[in-house]
Amino acid sequence: MRGASIVMRSLFEPRAIAVIGASGNPEKIGHRIVENIVRSGYGGGVFPINPRGGEILGLKAYADLSDVEGEIDVAVIAIPAGRVLSAVEACGAAGVKHLVVITSGFSEVGDLETERRIVRAAREHGMRLLGPNIFGIYSAASSLDATFGPGGITPGPVAIITQSGALGIAMIGKTATESVGLSALVSVGNKADVDEADLLEYLASDERTRAILMYVEGVKDGERLQGTLAEVTRNKPVVVIKSGRSKRGSMAAASHTGSLAGTDEVFDSVMRQAGVLRAESIQEAFSWVRYLASTPLPPGDEAVIVTNGGGIGVMATDACEKHGVLLYDDQAVLADAFSGVMPDFGSSKNPVDLTGQATAEDYARSLDAVLAEDRMHAAIALYCETALFDTGRFADLLRDVYARYRDRKPIVFSLFGGERIDAVIRDLRGEGIPVFGDVYEAVSALGALYRVRRRIREAPEEAEPSGLPIDEIREIFRTARDDGRAFLLAPEAAQVAAHLGLDMPRSIVAHNLDEAVEAAGEIGYPVVMKIVSKDIVHKSDAGGVALDLENEEEIVDAYQAILRSCRARAPDAVIEGVEVVEMVRSGVETIVGARQDPSFGPVVMFGLGGIYVEVMKDVSFRAAPIGRSAARAMISDLRSYPLLLGVRGESRKDIDAIAAVVSKLSHLIDRCREIADIEVNPLIVYDRGEGTRAVDMRILIKQPKGGERT
Ligand code: ACO
Repeated sequence: MRGASIVMRSLFEPRAIAVIGASGNPEKIGHRIVENIVRSGYGGGVFPINPRGGEILGLKAYADLSDVEGEIDVAVIAIPAGRVLSAVEACGAAGVKHLVVITSGFSEVGDLETERRIVRAAREHGMRLLGPNIFGIYSAASSLDATFGPGGITPGPVAIITQSGALGIAMIGKTATESVGLSALVSVGNKADVDEADLLEYLASDERTRAILMYVEGVKDGERLQGTLAEVTRNKPVVVIKSGRSKRGSMAAASHTGSLAGTDEVFDSVMRQAGVLRAESIQEAFSWVRYLASTPLPPGDEAVIVTNGGGIGVMATDACEKHGVLLYDDQAVLADAFSGVMPDFGSSKNPVDLTGQATAEDYARSLDAVLAEDRMHAAIALYCETALFDTGRFADLLRDVYARYRDRKPIVFSLFGGERIDAVIRDLRGEGIPVFGDVYEAVSALGALYRVRRRIREAPEEAEPSGLPIDEIREIFRTARDDGRAFLLAPEAAQVAAHLGLDMPRSIVAHNLDEAVEAAGEIGYPVVMKIVSKDIVHKSDAGGVALDLENEEEIVDAYQAILRSCRARAPDAVIEGVEVVEMVRSGVETIVGARQDPSFGPVVMFGLGGIYVEVMKDVSFRAAPIGRSAARAMISDLRSYPLLLGVRGESRKDIDAIAAVVSKLSHLIDRCREIADIEVNPLIVYDRGEGTRAVDMRILIKQPKGGERT
């Protein structure tokens, strides 16, 4: 991570910058960029490049980059698309380190080839390329605004990386109205070369940056992004907004795992795994980063609500549950803490209700009581406008409390009322005090801070060797591939399952009726029979499956029925026999799958619901590989997790055994990139200590050359 952050340093802290396409015409983007660089107070060398030469905004303009003496770290390119490649070559010859390509008209309009060519040219000269199709970069570290935005960015602790240019420019205005100061603002556009992971590596080490906000539309190298984020979030909060939540993934639904793995679900799970906070809206994201960047972590888990209104206190209590904020509950300590400051008619139960008769001074003293008490770790201060309060005096008291505790404990204020209250909110927010108009918004910001605290304190996932016989497993895939198949036959899948240590039902392939009867006798009734044919993938649809066969007579009938049906529905299929399988006793039906995700690489999935899994869509994902404790966390993500813990007098299920299967599959998909999709469905789970049974396992493999890792 360190190496990359050193490379990126000269992008954020260049000693000299050239603008190719600088123009004397104030209407042009190349003019605006030079203007912003000059106005932002950048102290390094600025070299406008324009074929006409002359002067631009009081700076000498150079007709050619080669005329500039001295080293140039960054070249901003704002000339039409057709000319960019030759400008990139010229930058390479001049020893430029970073290219910031503003120009549009590449892969975003279908011209991937030219984009690739400019990246190749950049790389050949050892340059990194930001963009193309971007509005530029702002870096507080060098007071540099190399964007064509409106200017006037206030420096501060928040870094923003945005894939949308228009939204990024609009965010400049928003940061001003929301009083959010920026350490950096980077537009990544088409991400032809530099992507979020490169930028995060620098921002992680940048002391100015205390919180990072990312707006993401699509992920390219998700595996690397996930790894980088997982590291960064151990030190700094990262908030992400991703559009396209409702879009189902466009990837082919080869199996349940595929159809359940909408890109957004995978994105969501993987971000959570990496400790990233995902905001629902830009407003929420801004509110979080502003709070996170300016607030100390709470010294402990428990918060206290102080309110002058019962209703708003109840709402805050609900919000605390939703956002994972615990409330301090030791009644004796609460009563003691508030004994001198609480009006007789109030309630010292948390939420502490001072009632509408409390004075502004009562209110301030109560907040003091919370913040001075070591056992109470954060304060949620709620206020409903009453006729009794002098709002001017009230605002001063809040300022005073905030100033005294701002570096020690988190406080959120939520004020509710009319015009006078709105004015107080505006004033205090403008001063950087965390005052919210809505109680949910206030608690959500504190909840985000608690999530950051948990992430920072979380023990890193222990690296767990998979212990899987990978070579033997890959040999099975090789056989299938040599045979021209993209899937494994049932006996092959069973071999893989055995290598994974999965407990599959006993099974024998019979080639005629006598063998089928004999196999059933050996396995023990009841049994299941399934057709074996590489030409019939969907066995049930072809009438190739018979369940719960109790005796020899049923075997005879089912055997004939299966053959008749399969021959009728798939007349050309080569039938190798019939598989006689042990009938597994019932338990909770789950599904474990793993696949190569187009954005994030190998991912593992767990879901509950058996045949209803697609309807319920109660599934969770993780980037693979994961150890057992991460697998347990993944299992507990499910809405229906309580079913595994045991409801209505049922006993707890064997969650550890599921976690073991999930972890094994995650290691397998990570090591064997030739697997396209693997699915154990159903994985039947029994009571704690009784393990799981893998009833069926399907494996789809990629045909050779599909990015196999050897
Ligand atoms: N070296 C140096 N200067 C050059 C070169 C060169 N090789 N070639 C041309 N120039 C000069 C031109 O002479 C001109 O200067 P002049 O005004 O003195 O004549 C200047 O560079 C600009 O060139 P133009 O041909 O006038 O190009 P124009 O400014 O109209 O457009 C631009 C260039 C802005 C890069 C355009 O092609 C473009 O891509 N626009 C979209 C940019 C964009 O939106 N990016 C995404 C941002 S994110 C968002 O959505 C907001």
